[in-house]
Amino acid sequence: MLIDGKSVSQERLEILNREIRESGLSPGLATVIVGEDPASQMYVRMKHKACDKVGIRSVGVVLKDDATTEEVIAHVNALNEDASVDGILVQLPLPGHIDTEAVIEAVSPEKDVDGFHPENLGALFSGRPTFVPCTPGGIMTLLEEYNIEPKGLNAVVIGRSVDVGRPMAALLLNADATVTICHSKTKNLAEEVRRADLIVSAIGKAHFITKEMVTPGAVVIDVGINQDEDGKLCGDVDFDAVSAIASAITPVPGGVGPMTIATLMENTFKAAKNHLC
Ligand code: GUN
Repeated sequence: MLIDGKSVSQERLEILNREIRESGLSPGLATVIVGEDPASQMYVRMKHKACDKVGIRSVGVVLKDDATTEEVIAHVNALNEDASVDGILVQLPLPGHIDTEAVIEAVSPEKDVDGFHPENLGALFSGRPTFVPCTPGGIMTLLEEYNIEPKGLNAVVIGRSVDVGRPMAALLLNADATVTICHSKTKNLAEEVRRADLIVSAIGKAHFITKEMVTPGAVVIDVGINQDEDGKLCGDVDFDAVSAIASAITPVPGGVGPMTIATLMENTFKAAKNHLC
């Protein structure tokens, strides 16, 4: 079974558009981008486009790549104070000279639609999620839409990043899976992955997950965005070989990626509703 993130995301955006219209609210998202990384610029453009589609106002703060940590935080603080802004997203990665953690911590937890603030990550790990990071949140939505119940499954998450691996593990644990997190120092990684009923790969290496690492019938979720030898976009999973034995698998592109943006839109509407209270 092919897990079609593109169509699920389109459905979710249509539902959200209806809910926003019915709510009479006018949610607002602010993005902050520092520098001119083409990939980051593209992601931010896609986020603004999704806002237009669902009826979220969006404003973009664009800073030069020599902006200081203090300058970025000053902009974040102004957005924290701005009542017309419900959600704030600082596009990552930030240039190396900027203290990324300080910037993330400057975002008001009530406006942290990325779910990266330690207060929101702490809530997630306590089993009481507030804003869930968009990529793992989108993956949980996909599993739900395809009736894949994590309860009791051996789930193996590959990658321990703060934006994907760690929150993914917490969400699966909250959903009663038995969770293993693998990373670059894991011994016998292939053996760990072979025990999985559900694999989430967020390692960022083309063709990393081979058929030999996957138990037939496993569910395979590919978060990777890489280029293969021919410069073609691909995930972490050797799709052609693994799709022949997996029970369900996400493609790249068209799998997890579109769900990240749909979840960001849902988080922004949630922030707007919270701000009414
Ligand atoms: N860069 C890559 N993915 C993300 C994301 O989900 N949020 C932000 N803010 N930056 C990113």
